[in-house]
Order: sequence, then C-alpha cells, then structure tokens
Amino acid sequence: MKKLFAAMIFTVLPAFSFAAGGQDVHLDQVDIDLSDKAALQDGARTFANYCMGCHSAKFQRYERVANDLGIPHELMLENLVFTGAKIGDQMKIGMQPADAKSWFGAAPPDLTLVARVRGTDWLYSYLRNFYEDPTRPWGVNNKVFPNVGMPNVLVGLQGRQVIGCKQVQVVEGGKKQFDPLTGTPITHEACDQLTVLPKTGSLSEAEFDDKIKNLVTFLAYSANPVKLESQRVGTYVLLYLAFFFVFAYLLKREYWKDVH
Ligand code: HEC
Repeated sequence: MKKLFAAMIFTVLPAFSFAAGGQDVHLDQVDIDLSDKAALQDGARTFANYCMGCHSAKFQRYERVANDLGIPHELMLENLVFTGAKIGDQMKIGMQPADAKSWFGAAPPDLTLVARVRGTDWLYSYLRNFYEDPTRPWGVNNKVFPNVGMPNVLVGLQGRQVIGCKQVQVVEGGKKQFDPLTGTPITHEACDQLTVLPKTGSLSEAEFDDKIKNLVTFLAYSANPVKLESQRVGTYVLLYLAFFFVFAYLLKREYWKDVH
C-alpha cells in the first residue's frame, strides 16, 4: 500500500511542478505530416538559411538528412551547407557558445531534439508569436516565450507584428457567440492581440504559417529521424500480418476439420 502511494505521488508530482513552471499561454495546434517530403525539404531549407546562423543540429548529419529527405548530395551541399562542411559532417555551426551568451544573454541551444522537449504546437506558436516591443534589446518580445533572447529572424517573411487592442469575438465553451436577435458576432475588446502590419513581409499570413509548419515538420523529423523509417516498416509489418492471417486461418480450418 505504502509503495503504491509513493508511486502515485511520483506520477502526479511532475504534473504539478510543470503546471507551476509553465505560464498559461494559448498554443496554436499544428497538424504535421512526417511523410510529406516537400514539406520536410522546405523546412530543411528554412532551417539552414534562417536558423543555422545561431543554432546547430549537431546530433544530425547532412548526409542523413539528404538521404532521408530525398535531396541529392550535390544539391544539399550547394543549397543547404554554408559552413564549408562535408556531406558526412554533423550540422554544427561556427558560433562559440561563450560569444553567443555575451551577445544574446543566453546561448542559442542546439535544436536537434527541441521538438521532443517543447512539442510541435509550442514550436509552431513560438515562431509565429514574436511582436515588436521597444523595451527589449532586439526590439521584439514573444507571447509564448516572454522576454526571449532571440531576435525575430523571420520578420522579413512574416512582416512586423505588433500587439494591441482589437475587438475579438466572444467564445464560450469552444463556441463563437452570436447575438441571438441580430445574428451579429458578439465581441469584446482584448488587449493582447497580435496583428501583422500590412505589406511589411514578403509572405502572406497563410504562406507564412505554411512555412513555419514545414519548418516544425523538419524539426520534428530531426528529433526522431527513425520515425520515418518505422512508419514505413510498420506498414509492411501490418500488411505481412494481414497476409499471414489468411493462411493461418486456412491451416487452422484444415487441422480442425475432422475434430468433432
Ligand atoms: C541571431 C541568432 C539566432 C537565430 C538566427 C535564431 N535563433 Fe533561435 N534562439 C536564439 C537565442 C539567443 C535563443 C535563446 C533565447 C533565450 O533563452 O532567451 C534562441 C532560442 C530558440 C528556441 C527556444 C529553445 C528553448 O527550448 O528554449 C527555439 C525553439 C529557437 N530559438 C528556434 C529558432 C529557429 C527555428 C530559428 C530559425 C528560424 C532560429 N531559432 C534562429 C538565437 C537565434
């Protein structure tokens, strides 16, 4: 009994400590598809172009990524490798953690496994929730990661996002509320709303969301590269079992035919 009680405490405790540590932020959900090669390739390109200036993915090798994502080695070296690394090298960067720490206040962590640590919804929300905040050293803050030390490196794509007050539709119990008499949406003023200033970024909002989704798909792959493989092998295993079942059944019928 005592043991059971202790076990219960230890299963429940982490949940509480997590609740205490994490703020109550709204995360946008993202539905990623690890078998989407085009998405993975686009994500890998964004990662190499926009993230590897500061972040490494050192538990991953260029060659493995190229093979898994179906990118020919020459193309990979031409378009995704900027450090003069060889195809068999790990995805390391030149920046020294100590320098980075003095520049940004915090060293940019390695991102190979970040999707496992933070989850894909968190990453998707984080990368879309930078907004202008003149009180911060880089002029930006983040709704999902308050007072973050990372500059908004995707501002050229997304455009300048600002926070402010906006009329938003009231939602109760997951349902948008409408005035029962006039049918018009019921709104209230909310003051933590993000808006992208028109024509400040090169992508539309939908295109930008897509870009980030692809980037997150790549990060999810990188945190668990065998998943692609295991899904593929898994399909074969199930097909084999289904096939085998038919013969096992026929054999069983044959054996039991004369038993009454
Ligand atoms: C100019 C340097 C720089 C670039 C470029 C950059 N980051 Fe960062 N990033 C940082 C720094 C510094 C931190 C640490 C922030 C902190 O702890 O306050 C960080 C933190 C993060 C975190 C949070 C990690 C964690 O779990 O705490 C993620 C995720 C992240 N970056 C993703 C990206 C992605 C994806 C890109 C490319 C689109 C990118 N970063 C580009 C500097 C950079």
